[in-house]
Amino acid sequence: MLARQTLASWKKLNQLAQDKKSQHMNTLFAEDSKRFDKFSIELPRLLLDYSKNLIDDETMATLLKLAEETEVTEWREKMFSGEKINKTEHRAVLHTALRRYSDEPLVVDGENVTDHVQQQLAKMEAFVNKVRQGHWLGYSGKRITDIVNIGVGGSNLGPQMVTEALKHYSDNSVNVHYVSNVDGAQIVEILRPLNPEKVLFIVSSKTFTTTETMTNARTAINWLTSSSFDGKSVAKHFVAVTANKENAVGFGIDEDNIFDMWDWVGGRFSLWSAIGLPIALDLGFDQFRALLDGAHEMDQHFLSAPLAQNMPVIMALLSVWNTTFLGARSQAILPYDQTLHMLSAYLQQAEMESNGKSVTWDGDEVDYATVPSIWGELGINGQHAFYQYLHQSNNVVPADFIGSVTSVTPVKGHHETLMSNFFAQTQALMTGVDEEQVRADLKAKGRTDAYIDTVAPHKVHKGNRPTNTLLLKRIDPATLGNLIALYEHKIFVQGIVLQICSFDQWGVELGKGLAAKIQHELESDALDADHDCSTENLIRFYKKVSQ
Ligand code: F6P
Repeated sequence: MLARQTLASWKKLNQLAQDKKSQHMNTLFAEDSKRFDKFSIELPRLLLDYSKNLIDDETMATLLKLAEETEVTEWREKMFSGEKINKTEHRAVLHTALRRYSDEPLVVDGENVTDHVQQQLAKMEAFVNKVRQGHWLGYSGKRITDIVNIGVGGSNLGPQMVTEALKHYSDNSVNVHYVSNVDGAQIVEILRPLNPEKVLFIVSSKTFTTTETMTNARTAINWLTSSSFDGKSVAKHFVAVTANKENAVGFGIDEDNIFDMWDWVGGRFSLWSAIGLPIALDLGFDQFRALLDGAHEMDQHFLSAPLAQNMPVIMALLSVWNTTFLGARSQAILPYDQTLHMLSAYLQQAEMESNGKSVTWDGDEVDYATVPSIWGELGINGQHAFYQYLHQSNNVVPADFIGSVTSVTPVKGHHETLMSNFFAQTQALMTGVDEEQVRADLKAKGRTDAYIDTVAPHKVHKGNRPTNTLLLKRIDPATLGNLIALYEHKIFVQGIVLQICSFDQWGVELGKGLAAKIQHELESDALDADHDCSTENLIRFYKKVSQ
């Protein structure tokens, strides 16, 4: 039995879960009219209502006890102060330092992180202004009109998700494009309408070794140099963001055009660093700072609010409750704002790459359910696609509903239709409708008994499906900063409570290594004898057809 399972709170939660599984939220609401007041948290920019979960006072008190017993506050302190809590890679975890405003030094390995951050922010700001104001010129003297960010995973998802979410705030000084897939179809389509004289590429890669990114970057260099007048064009059209300066220089990128990353920033938490350059280029540096400020606000809330009022802590505990104790295995992210259409893809990496593991940080096998698989889509599109499953399948999927009060692009009547669905869905998922009611409704509509007997069982919704509602006042840079940092800290707390090292990602290495070997096989006559017969024959088929 693992240490976590011996905690008094853990044992009690196991018992409470048995009781709760036989309860319905409808009863909990009927018994306690104060549920919303008790189980919601309001911050200046957003509201979290978590009352539609299978919880009561005792459950919440015990979950909070679990946070205490697992020393969440102590670990929080360790993270913010730069202790090397990424044990397997022996690294500090300091994405919060990227949005920290303090003259106080924050020292990691004898270096003041604060100085580095400030220097890079200043370098970013100067660069962003130069490009946006038309002073950064391409090889033929023309101003830059298009930015192409080449990166994948954390070097793509965060910046692209934010760019999409904040489109409304762009003044279109430049057009920003993202290339992440090594399928040539993406880069070819993006480059096709562009003029090489006016394009600036950002090669974003913490390691500067990621095959997909390097392949795309080489194609971009070829595209540029095959049309440029002289060999100096690369310096005017390529910048890099990386923690591996040597490789970037070796690749041909001018040293002055390299922005720093650090090993204490995880790729999936890096949009606050120079990885966020495309955001700043699109929106201007003031808006980028507003995004950082919003994240900083959430950091302050996370650091100072009592656990019972602490939004990231509560969201993490509810995830542990729903998953580890009540047995849910997946979690839906359902934004209703069109602007947030990439949020679930972003959170998939943030949560699943962080906590999708099955050994503790001491290397012991975990035999309790850890984090759910994360998936989702814009809520309205989902309603007409997979909500059937959310309402009536026998697999309960807890869901986060995310919407905003004020639309940034109001069109008469649209927002009300959108948000009426938003509110209706969480109510329906919770209350459901029982057979008696279904029968009464059909009867009232004049249906025959035979018809009612046939149809009634299909119309029953058991309800009791847990949801969190996050209601943002509006989508703007600071609120988005709040929201992203909220999930970052939720993920951190989940990891601590479940005793998982959230900041490494060893699980991506095995496939990467194999792919490198197989690429050699696809490009030559070689065929490795070590393949299983399925993989071997798939490769043989591929080689035969492609000849
Ligand atoms: O393979 C997974 C991963 O390492 C992610 O963790 C990371 O965000 C992504 O690849 C890209 O890595 P890099 O920025 O080093 O190219």
